[in-house]
Amino acid sequence: MDRLRIAGGAALDGEIPIGGAKNAALPLMAASLLTAEPLELTNVPRLRDIATLIRVLEQHGVEVESGAGTLRLTAADIPNTMAPYDLVRQMRASVLVLGPLVARFGNAAVSLPGGCAIGSRPIDLHLMALEQLGAEISLGRGYIHAEAPPGGLVGNRIIFPKVSVGASENAIMAAALARGTTAIENAALEPEVADLAHCLNAMGARIEGIGSERLVIEGVDELHGAQHRVVADRIEAGTYAMAAAITGGSVTLQNVGEDLFGAAAAALREAGVALEPNGAGIRVSCADGDLTGVDVITDPFPGFPTDLQAQFMALMSKAGGASMITETIFENRYMHVPELKRMGANVNLHGASAMVRGVEKLYGAEVMATDLRASSSLVIAALAAEGETTINRVYHLDRGYERLVEKLTGCGARVERIAGS
Ligand code: EPZ
Repeated sequence: MDRLRIAGGAALDGEIPIGGAKNAALPLMAASLLTAEPLELTNVPRLRDIATLIRVLEQHGVEVESGAGTLRLTAADIPNTMAPYDLVRQMRASVLVLGPLVARFGNAAVSLPGGCAIGSRPIDLHLMALEQLGAEISLGRGYIHAEAPPGGLVGNRIIFPKVSVGASENAIMAAALARGTTAIENAALEPEVADLAHCLNAMGARIEGIGSERLVIEGVDELHGAQHRVVADRIEAGTYAMAAAITGGSVTLQNVGEDLFGAAAAALREAGVALEPNGAGIRVSCADGDLTGVDVITDPFPGFPTDLQAQFMALMSKAGGASMITETIFENRYMHVPELKRMGANVNLHGASAMVRGVEKLYGAEVMATDLRASSSLVIAALAAEGETTINRVYHLDRGYERLVEKLTGCGARVERIAGS
């Protein structure tokens, strides 16, 4: 397994191009199942998760043509509506094929995704939404079997008891082809959900209220092909913003606007990080020693994103004063804590909260990546640590960060990837 070797201490200085959002590209790719015509996506990041979903879609019968940052997906002939365990377990977002398959073909069998490092990750809200639209759901031998009524799914009111990005996306895609009107209440506000809805409307769907928690969807008989550019990745941007800040550097994050940052922008500014929108994107800078501790509580968008919690903890480990970080979305998203502590961070966990007291220095060490965002948290800490850090199991990083080594070394970081045994 490959690992990263990072020699800390270099202040990042330069430009970092921000790619398309993984968490937008995945539902957009699943949406290709809703039409027999080609869906052309641009600004698609080259990531392991994207490659995994391509394999899932191809085994359904979708023709996928990949180009430089582009995908052309054609679901003209779909002989197989089953998504197998060996693929779904690799990437739980594969469950996003469920809504489109049931809506267009009337049935689907999708493996239960199983949990992952950060939590049990149930999908009850996905299933509730489909049942509300008339689907019969049964569970058997590790698979979800979903069957639409003979005339297809029927529009209805769907009230989510808690915000769920994936369940909102499955519900929107299914409702787009349901007969009649669907009202979705308490829909997720993440920009990736809006990006999906905009693409579906370009495909002929009739979705109103995009960007709000109440969506009204007039079902249509069929959708057609479209071209769509994937929205920029706010989590990649936030990750590199924190890398720049912790090194006392100054970096322009290209192709991304502050509107995607939500509460993360306010938290960074409160911590002493300067964020200045400029023509090319956002300039992020922080003078050495200016970082101060800030409390954050993760929350659905536009709250502080859970996907930036681990990275923010690394940043706060070198801030003056203390920072109370509370994770409210996932039950086990502190796998990075023991690794950060091995680098000298002062972090104490109290249930869902972590008390971080800033330290003068972090020290390079041999550490282990455990999940996607925990891995990027270790990269951030390593960039500011005294000495050399080796991060093992970097395949976690490959799931969500395209060309990470190149983007960091392009700003003066001393990072190299070492091929594993
Ligand atoms: C999406 O996951 C993202 N993944 C996650 O990013 C992100 O952390 C999460 O949203 C929250 O923003 C993709 O978009 C592919 P949820 P998702 O449904 O849809 C509970 C990353 O690092 N829940 O909004 O799975 C769930 O357990 C990944 O890029 C149910 O109880 O998240 C969690 O506590 C990690 N029942 C909360 O809701 C359900 O049916 C929010 O989960 C579904 C979810």
